[in-house]
Amino acid sequence: MKNSVSTFMSAKKSGIKLTMLTAYDYSMAKIIDECGVNGILVGDSLGMVCLGYKDTLSVTMDDMLHHTKAVVRGTKNALVVGDMPFMSYQASLYDAVKNAGRFLQEAGASAIKLEGGAVVCPQIKAIVAAQIPVMGHIGLTPQSVNMFGGFKVQGKNNVDAKKLIEDAKKIEDAGAFAITLECIPAKLAELISKAVTIPTIGIGAGGGCDGQILVYQDMLNMFQDFKPKFVKSFANVGDLMRSGFKAYIKEVTDGTFPANEHCFKIDDEILKNLY
Ligand code: KIV
Repeated sequence: MKNSVSTFMSAKKSGIKLTMLTAYDYSMAKIIDECGVNGILVGDSLGMVCLGYKDTLSVTMDDMLHHTKAVVRGTKNALVVGDMPFMSYQASLYDAVKNAGRFLQEAGASAIKLEGGAVVCPQIKAIVAAQIPVMGHIGLTPQSVNMFGGFKVQGKNNVDAKKLIEDAKKIEDAGAFAITLECIPAKLAELISKAVTIPTIGIGAGGGCDGQILVYQDMLNMFQDFKPKFVKSFANVGDLMRSGFKAYIKEVTDGTFPANEHCFKIDDEILKNLY
């Protein structure tokens, strides 16, 4: 079934948990989509898991559009959400609307996500006014890593916890159709989820959220530079890939691959006549 922002809203109403995963290319989007996930986020985590940066700050609009186009080509049913990279929406409302529009117009995404609470509500309002669905993102917002002083759990004291609840309400009022909650204590994330009527999609925010999202390289144990506490390895694809690559190297070097069945044939007569 084709997922849309309405699917997300009605899932929250009927208490059905939503599933999202990240994807960054055609083949992976196709596999993930075929499995029946509700949404695919082309996350700016691209910078870390695909491009090898230490954080997400170097990711550009061009990077994001390039990968979003590939994901859209591989997706039939999931809602594709493009993640607005650092400095594509912070400087002005004009930038925010123009760049959000590029995700839909040039890349074919159906929604965008941006990071931040009350401070980005003017951007959310302007983008929604341009008929572009917006997913908010609060808690550990990786584009603010320098302000946070590292990748840390958010909302652990009274002031910060209250602010997160207020931010979520303001994001809903600004017109967002969903909110990502990242690295927030589970009980607080549950309170936030109850305080808003739009679905919350958690990552490191416990089971009280209305849905979950993970970076696919994390949950398949393919990205091993570091493993956040909230990640569960659902399959050990990293090791599976390693053994596949090693088997290939061995078979090429010992001459087992390619075998006859992998080769194209030619008539001996034609060969004879070549000399
Ligand atoms: O960029 C990303 O992958 C994200 C998720 C972690 C929510 O923002």
